[in-house]
Amino acid sequence: MKITPSTIANSPRLTVIGTGYLGATHAAAMAELGFEVLGVDVDPDKIERLSRGVLPFHEPDLPELLTKHLSSGRLKFTTSIEEAGAFGDIHFIAVGTPQKEGEGGADMTYVDEAVSAIATSATHDCVIVGKSTVPVGSARRLQNLVESVKRPNVNISFAWNPEFLREGFAVQDTLQPDRLVVGADDDTAITALREVYAEAILRDTPFITTDFETAELVKVAANAFLATKISFINSFAEVTERVGGDIRTLADAIGHDARIGRKFLNAGVGFGGGCLPKDIRALQARVSELGLDRTMAFLHEVDNINLRRRERVIDVAHSLTNGVNKKKIAVLGTTFKPNSDDVRDSPALDIAARLYGQGADVRVYDPKGMENSAKRFPRLTYSESLEAALEGAELVLLLTEWQEFCEMDPVQIALLVDSKTIVDGRNVLNRTNWIDAGWDYHALGLKAVHAAEVALV
Ligand code: UDX
Repeated sequence: MKITPSTIANSPRLTVIGTGYLGATHAAAMAELGFEVLGVDVDPDKIERLSRGVLPFHEPDLPELLTKHLSSGRLKFTTSIEEAGAFGDIHFIAVGTPQKEGEGGADMTYVDEAVSAIATSATHDCVIVGKSTVPVGSARRLQNLVESVKRPNVNISFAWNPEFLREGFAVQDTLQPDRLVVGADDDTAITALREVYAEAILRDTPFITTDFETAELVKVAANAFLATKISFINSFAEVTERVGGDIRTLADAIGHDARIGRKFLNAGVGFGGGCLPKDIRALQARVSELGLDRTMAFLHEVDNINLRRRERVIDVAHSLTNGVNKKKIAVLGTTFKPNSDDVRDSPALDIAARLYGQGADVRVYDPKGMENSAKRFPRLTYSESLEAALEGAELVLLLTEWQEFCEMDPVQIALLVDSKTIVDGRNVLNRTNWIDAGWDYHALGLKAVHAAEVALV
């Protein structure tokens, strides 16, 4: 029997299962919207910290929201799925789908476990809403799983509602999304989610209802498109590095075409993080399972172009130092992007570790990413400040565009280093200022502009 909208409480109580970047943000944001929310995680340490208002990762504005709603009493955390099953009317699944060890596909273990656990524990009619990024076909399979494990007297409606938040803007993206997508095959879930997202809908945020498959694909299609856009401009960077030309101007010029747009055309060390790289690999793996290998073959190249950017920086570093062995190299940035402490698949940290592996004396500094970087690569030298990293450097690599690095004064910085040679791996510095201050300025997508004698090709 399908449940009807009237069987769901008027002001539904929400649970969010999985309290990582996605789940913790969603839970706090839903409390901000006025709902009573219970965050659930199997990690007792994480739950204990969140309950004390301590966020296990860096995300602007989220600590304030967390503290606010622990105080308001609208936000609580638990490790008990039974408690969640008794409490919630709408359960959001926000656990991770990491890349499988040694394979491209997504590991669905956590999603399967979370869905199964909450469906088993639900004591009253409810809606389960998947938010995690999953291979197409998962939602329908999980809906069947729910039906097979739920209590006989409980009706559970099922929906897929992908999340598009960006790290660093997670709170803003959750409270003011640019679109809402809901895949469902009954009205109960859609009605319930209309209530959850009423504020955004009132502001005319597009609320797109569709089937499970489209909802699942919207998410991976968006990330595949963004990754393609970045690799597209980076492939042209390979060309301008060879023949001359300026990738920034090229991007600006094509970006003025409204059909193309300037966003996500910043050439540099490429994309990383917990989403783009794994999502394009999982998509390829999924379509290959479907017998459509050639359909997404271009994503393989998107990935390759992206990974080549890292090699390029390493080649340039060798060229500028006459071999990196024992050379002091300041690496500015380890996170995959600024305003985050996330180092998953980070181009910056990968480059730092590889240079270290090749004998370089790498001095790393990142405003927020030091702890996570040190967990992954404890043997790198982590400097306590930007200045300490730059002291005596024979080469400076700017690999993550933190504000602090973008605002460096080339005249002041010159006093710290041994050799005024910099590679702007994110194309963010004002070239003229750096060249005027006597620096050998190099950028990805730009032929050597100052030290013409340095062979970059
Ligand atoms: C991404 C999607 O943007 C988001 O919608 C989805 O929900 C999760 O994945 P996120 O991983 O937070 O979000 O990072 P994003 O801002 O998309 O950047 C991804 C990577 O691309 C970063 O490493 C960034 O430095 C790089 N990037 C971005 C470029 O190299 N050039 C650009 O022009 C833009």
